[in-house]
Amino acid sequence: MASTTNHIHENTHHNGSTISHIPKKPKLSSSSSSSSPITPSEIDSEFDHHDPAVARINNGSFGCCPASIIAEQQRWQLKYLRQPDSFYFNDLKTGILRSRTIIKGLVNADHVDQISIVDNATTAAAIVLQHTAWAFREGRFQKGDVVLMLHYAYGAVKKSMEAYVTRAGGKVIEVPLPFPVNSNDEIISEFRKALERGNSDGKRVRLAVIDHVTSMPCVIIPVKELIKICRDEGVEQVFVDAAHSIGCTDVDMKEIGADFYTSNLHKWFFCPPSIAFLYSRSHSKGSDLHHPVVSHEYGNGLAVESAWIGTRDYSSQLVVPAALEFVNRFEGGIEGIKKRNHDAVVEMGNMLAEAWGTHLGSPPHMCASMVMVGLPACLGVASDSDALKLRTHLRDGFGVEVPMYFRPLRDGEVGLVTGYARISHQVYNKVDDYYKFRDAVNQLVQSGFTCALLSD
Ligand SMILES: Cc1ncc(COP(=O)(O)O)c(C=O)c1O
Repeated sequence: MASTTNHIHENTHHNGSTISHIPKKPKLSSSSSSSSPITPSEIDSEFDHHDPAVARINNGSFGCCPASIIAEQQRWQLKYLRQPDSFYFNDLKTGILRSRTIIKGLVNADHVDQISIVDNATTAAAIVLQHTAWAFREGRFQKGDVVLMLHYAYGAVKKSMEAYVTRAGGKVIEVPLPFPVNSNDEIISEFRKALERGNSDGKRVRLAVIDHVTSMPCVIIPVKELIKICRDEGVEQVFVDAAHSIGCTDVDMKEIGADFYTSNLHKWFFCPPSIAFLYSRSHSKGSDLHHPVVSHEYGNGLAVESAWIGTRDYSSQLVVPAALEFVNRFEGGIEGIKKRNHDAVVEMGNMLAEAWGTHLGSPPHMCASMVMVGLPACLGVASDSDALKLRTHLRDGFGVEVPMYFRPLRDGEVGLVTGYARISHQVYNKVDDYYKFRDAVNQLVQSGFTCALLSD
């Protein structure tokens, strides 16, 4: 293993040449921005590559990227293509360090070495769970020891649990969560019960994987409270899968207190696909946390390993300063955007629920820039497949893009809502997007449509 410290290494290429360029201290808030405030027509032109035929109320799945940031990304790509060696030796590492420094400030981490940039939350989960798998294989964790995760964990993360944890001998316990959900206490109480199960029969919960904002159905999870419980009950490590968080909900590493925390920047922070950060509380090189793609920097600490995983396009990792500049053109910067998105999505959710005689899936304080809205029961959403078919039908037949969730009826329940839509709000959305969705559903209801009429 290399013996250089991260600091030294970051200013030194693997061929030993030194970079003279030290990153500037980023300006994190809008008040310090030198750009002029963005106008409504500038917002429209930043997003005029969006398909005008589609009411895009699904920022949650893939995010969005304004034209000015796409242009910045293309400048980086061309810089590389013009003179790759110069880009590699003079620009890449300082550029990535500049992005990491901005992220460190945005999430209130202690040290820039706690912040690694990776492709996406899926990669971050692979890094953490591979680390856990090694602990089982090398005998630091005992066969049958437990890793806890929420029932609503993201599907790909559940697969990673299977691939890394279960296969290495760990036992995965899911925390069942109620939906619709009414309070944090409901979540906390289920979490405590699952933790008790995990710590029984001589087993120990070694790792808890907790979402910050669950994907489907979407709910803000009281991560700070759950992590405190984990600490009190002796859970060794906590990984927060916060794929949606930065730009969507509050992200403060010192307050949250996780061991590992990841968020995408391509969902709610206007970066192009793909970029996420992975925070690791311990950033010593001895932490044995590694990128799954091994290259020249293996052993130099995760942040440095992740900054060179072979020849590829790194441009999305280099536009974080431009993304920060973009958000700072809005009143209140990213905090202002978050608040306005939250207020708007709750207002639109209530408007839809009222029009359809249904309800929201959680109280407003338990959602950020996305909210679940009940669909009219007469649409007959009776399976996951129905939810997907209805989504496709709305896209193809009505020009509405919105993900759907099937919530099965429990024993004794009759006539309840079984289909929910997850609506998002981002700066480009207009009230008409939501009216279009409302009217499409009303038209389906009036025509006597049910999901049973849709073929596979
Ligand atoms: C909770 C959660 N985890 C992980 C992911 C995966 O994110 P990505 O596809 O960017 O890796 C998502 C994506 O929506 C998510 O919602």
